Amino acid sequence: ARTVTRGADGSLQVGGIAVAELVEQFGTPLYVLDEEDFRARAAQFRDAFATAFADLCGGADVYYAAKSFIATGVARWISEDGLNLDTASGGELALGLRGGVPGERIALHGNNKSRSEIHAALTAGVGRIVLDSLGEIDLVADVARELDVVAPVFIRVTVGVEAHTHSYIATAHEDQKFGLSLAGGQALTAVEAVLARPELSLRGLHSHIGSQIFDLGGFEVSARRLLELHARIEHSYGVTLPEIDLGGGFGMAYTSEHTPLAPERIATRLAEIVARECLVQGVAVPKVSVEPGRAISGPSTFTLYEVGAVKDVALEGGTSRRYVSVDGGMSDNIRTALYDADYSATLASRASQAPGVLSRVVGKHCESGDVVVKDEFLPSDAGAGDLLAVPGTGAYCRSMASNYNQVPRPAVVAVRDGVARLLVRRETPEDLLALDAG
Ligand code: LLP
Repeated sequence: ARTVTRGADGSLQVGGIAVAELVEQFGTPLYVLDEEDFRARAAQFRDAFATAFADLCGGADVYYAAKSFIATGVARWISEDGLNLDTASGGELALGLRGGVPGERIALHGNNKSRSEIHAALTAGVGRIVLDSLGEIDLVADVARELDVVAPVFIRVTVGVEAHTHSYIATAHEDQKFGLSLAGGQALTAVEAVLARPELSLRGLHSHIGSQIFDLGGFEVSARRLLELHARIEHSYGVTLPEIDLGGGFGMAYTSEHTPLAPERIATRLAEIVARECLVQGVAVPKVSVEPGRAISGPSTFTLYEVGAVKDVALEGGTSRRYVSVDGGMSDNIRTALYDADYSATLASRASQAPGVLSRVVGKHCESGDVVVKDEFLPSDAGAGDLLAVPGTGAYCRSMASNYNQVPRPAVVAVRDGVARLLVRRETPEDLLALDAG
């Protein structure tokens, strides 16, 4: 977060508020989102893409990926700041609409959209539904006919790129569930089927190659293959698709070991790639869009925990490891357990001159894989009652949070100019009991 400092007493302050004050008001664990940081990153993507693509295709559109984190308050920023919204379910769509994002600035994704999700999207007048399977073509066309509308659709193409990222979040190689295969011919079959349906208007091709990507080489291959297909559609059917979407996945820094690409670098490079491939294919440049999620939301937020039990465990070879338990864990951040993700932690409640001890920050859940931060040097005097901050938790932490062990999910607060505003309230034990049929 951009507005994090240490106060005179050595404790962390964010958005002009001391962490102790936030904890007093909202409790722990707590996701603390720096509104200025989030909106600055979103605006930076918006402006970088508008500028880099201005001469090529009148500017590229940025669709913020709601799956990384969405709340009505966030959707309101997206709407006010002129971005678009990528949703992947009826629930994300509903929050986007509630936050005032106009339907035409929303995209609906998903490899298994339900009839009611498609119905909700078309009723809201979404700008695009991204088709992900052959069967979905008839489904969307049916619902569009029922509603007497023409559905604007994209086709998600599996371009066959091996993105260099964790296998769970790489999405454009052949053997995974997303998209219609280019190599296998389903993408072209889908194009023909869509063009034959008067209830559907084919707006463009889409590809998302994966997440937490630092090397833009994969986008080069992806853009080339999409534009080859785009040109083929033009030549074979005389149809010029007006748009193309290159997906998201731009990496963020979880620790100091990552150096993220600046949005300007990404936009400039993608513009070069698109310009060159269009030239090679002999087609006019379609309107480009991208779908960054974590690069906007991730760095904006840290999770605040209270430390409880501290334990030193003897290791072979005479060393030891310190286990620092916090009052949350894999229920509010599954990413360490699921992807072997790296995070860092810092003592938030005070400064300490004590020497650093190699520590592992663990949660309160009933399994040993419940690790939040694998390795961190924490002051040797950090103990029960201290606050720890884990930065970079704005993406896919609250959105993938669970109630494991009947633990209520934490609140999310947005801080700005000395004011803290609740984005998502903390669940209570009563909320959980209310779900139980008794
Ligand atoms: N567009 C599409 C079609 C996507 O599937 C995704 C992410 C994005 C955009 C945004 O990707 P981002 O810029 O946020 O990397 N739970 C995993 C990430 C799964 C991402 C799924 N799709 C994680 O915690 O890393």
